Amino acid sequence: MRVVKTGADLRQVLDEYTAAGCRRVLVPTMGALHHGHLELVRHARMTAGPGGTVIVSIFVNPIQFDRANDLDAYPRPVESDLEKCLAAAVDVVFLPEVAAMYHADRSVTVAESLLSKGLCGASRPGHFDGVCTVVLKLFLLSGCDAAVFGEKDFQQLAIIRRMVRDLDVPVEILECPTVRESDGLAMSSRNVRLNARQRADAPRIHRALAAAGKLAHADEILAAARAEIEASPFARIDYLELVDAQTLQPVTDLHQPAVLAAAVFYGEVRLIDHVAVPARKPPHTTTHAMSCD
Ligand code: PAF
Repeated sequence: MRVVKTGADLRQVLDEYTAAGCRRVLVPTMGALHHGHLELVRHARMTAGPGGTVIVSIFVNPIQFDRANDLDAYPRPVESDLEKCLAAAVDVVFLPEVAAMYHADRSVTVAESLLSKGLCGASRPGHFDGVCTVVLKLFLLSGCDAAVFGEKDFQQLAIIRRMVRDLDVPVEILECPTVRESDGLAMSSRNVRLNARQRADAPRIHRALAAAGKLAHADEILAAARAEIEASPFARIDYLELVDAQTLQPVTDLHQPAVLAAAVFYGEVRLIDHVAVPARKPPHTTTHAMSCD
């Protein structure tokens, strides 16, 4: 496994690595790797095939953080991340410093203007511009053919797909299902920042969404999920919304597939989760046979 720190080194190493006709598959991460990331790497390995190259980028991207304390507190266990990458048969780790990614006077940003407006975009201004900008840079620096993302960040995934579509970026976007702890909590690098009582309570987010998502009507779904999360002495809802699965706009009925999504603060730690809510079939209408006699 090679570890490189600049874009120029990455290109050189990748040119040596990737056999002609084989695929380069990128797993973009901010490090603090957990089992969910390793699933992305496993998927990347399968996609790349034996002659292909799996690249993991580890970069805590400052321009996607809206709160300085969140950026400062973001875990950075680099040594153990590199051990995990080695054990997962990653070929190349891209581990740049901030100065290797951004010029001090940088003035170009990639901005998505529709899907990024609600949910996490509304409560984290500029977040998705930061994500799109760094992801496009990582695609260009690595020259990857495909990239793997976690479905847990479903808004991020929708926005990256939109960026790739709208800018004709020649990268195939692959997704992996959310990986959960045995008690249902979605795996996240932020989970290590929860104290014991917060950690014990946090599975309530998934429990609330999963149970409410089975109810029949949009208003009862939202009310039930809110009641369960607000029953916690530790949790504070940032948002709880039912949105159209394609447009990510809020919905008030279930004529189309929807997503029930929440962001919840435990102290300073913000956790996100969601469940799919399938469209409900309209109630049966009784048809009476008409006679023509
Ligand atoms: O999902 C993440 O970890 C980050 O948003 C990403 C895609 C690596 C960009 O910094």
